[in-house]
Amino acid sequence: MSNEQIVVEQSSALNGEISLAGAKNAVLVIIASLVLTNGKSRLKNVPCSQDVLHMIALLKELGATIFFDTKNNELEVDTRGIVSYKVSSEIMKKMRASVLVMGPLLARFGCVDVALPGGCVIGSRPINYHLSNFEIMGAQISVTGELISARAKKLFPKKLILEYPSVGATENLMMAAVFTPGLTTIVNAALEPEVLDLVSVLKKMGAKISIVPPAAIRIEGVKELKPIEHEVLLDRLEAGSLLLAAAMTGGEVHLPKAPAYTLDMFLLKLREMGHRITTGEHEVGIWLKAEKFPRAVSFKTGPYPGFPTDLQAPMMAAQCLASGKSVIQETVFENRLLHVRELQKMGAQIEVKYNTAIVTGVDELYGVPVIATDIRASCALVLAGFVAKGTTTISGVHHWRRGYDKLEKKLQTLGATIYFAHEPISSLQHSSRASVVGKKSI
Ligand code: EPZ
Repeated sequence: MSNEQIVVEQSSALNGEISLAGAKNAVLVIIASLVLTNGKSRLKNVPCSQDVLHMIALLKELGATIFFDTKNNELEVDTRGIVSYKVSSEIMKKMRASVLVMGPLLARFGCVDVALPGGCVIGSRPINYHLSNFEIMGAQISVTGELISARAKKLFPKKLILEYPSVGATENLMMAAVFTPGLTTIVNAALEPEVLDLVSVLKKMGAKISIVPPAAIRIEGVKELKPIEHEVLLDRLEAGSLLLAAAMTGGEVHLPKAPAYTLDMFLLKLREMGHRITTGEHEVGIWLKAEKFPRAVSFKTGPYPGFPTDLQAPMMAAQCLASGKSVIQETVFENRLLHVRELQKMGAQIEVKYNTAIVTGVDELYGVPVIATDIRASCALVLAGFVAKGTTTISGVHHWRRGYDKLEKKLQTLGATIYFAHEPISSLQHSSRASVVGKKSI
């Protein structure tokens, strides 16, 4: 792992107006869904983050021709050259979301070879719901070592019941079913905004998909799907991070096109803390003015519309200096509290019992070397760095780069001092301002 770090200085109020990037967790699956078409599609609001570059590399490996205009965040994908149904383990290892090409390749070719995506620090991340339901649809699945092969001469319209509303399983099964004649139903489907953005893309392509309350998705098979043009949903997780940056530093921020309607539970909790929040017409656009002495709030993560697990770590950072106690229960992943140890190093008072963290607000945090353990933990530590005395150095920069498209530059626009350093962790002085060789403003 490189010795590159993110360096964050304590910050005064962060203020300003920011445009959001497209949602990573929508664009990855939407790019994968283009395998279902035979032609040239165009996507707008495509963030230039590491995971997106990996998904682009994957589709190129299958034979697609892709042009990424990173200046305008527009992607052109021509899938007429796709002839392969094999994903190399090298690509699979780089990004778990590669598993999302299984459904499209099964639907297009009736076969797919991928490597087991493996787990990550936040959990074992099994794909049993994906595989068992592919089998119910008629696929033969064989797992040899790390290789998964799926073969299906024909897929059948079935009722697929998800024991847990898995986002990836919902997306994979929906895409696998688009050409299956008859009615496929996914019961207890995930209905996250990013899943619904995929539904809108598939319907634009010509798929027949409907959502039946309380949480079923019905797919009526069609003969073929057409290429599309689509503006990817803006990133509610980036929005949450920017709102917290202003909230924690006593600032004001305006996110003109933020999809406030996708953040109800999160905004409810910010309001409970005392922060003033208004949203625009049709719940598009968010303004936040920070409460000077915010109250601690408790919350439990869960499937949408519950509190998003991907904002749990950033929101925990906001509880560390709030007044009172915050009880935070993580119910989606079995090991998504690793950022607690790092926040404790900064002086946060947090106790962990099973999947619950109890945060007691303190008066001060201190800038020290900390380690980011996943994408969202890296965001939590940057936010904590803004309110910690002195300089915070965060290693595990690859997590930050995987999940965000130059979010550090957006934070700089709000007035933050945040930059990448290439110094080994040990040589950075933390009591005083970091004297960093190779400081690169980012
Ligand atoms: C998606 O992951 C997101 N990733 C995650 O964002 C997000 O945290 C998660 O959904 C929940 O909202 C992308 O969209 C690329 P799941 P996914 O299947 O699809 C268990 C981020 O930081 N499960 O809904 O992998 C699983 O272990 C990332 O941007 C099974 O047991 O999530 C987990 O405990 C992190 N068997 C729970 O379900 C399965 O077959 C939710 O997983 C599938 C999942």
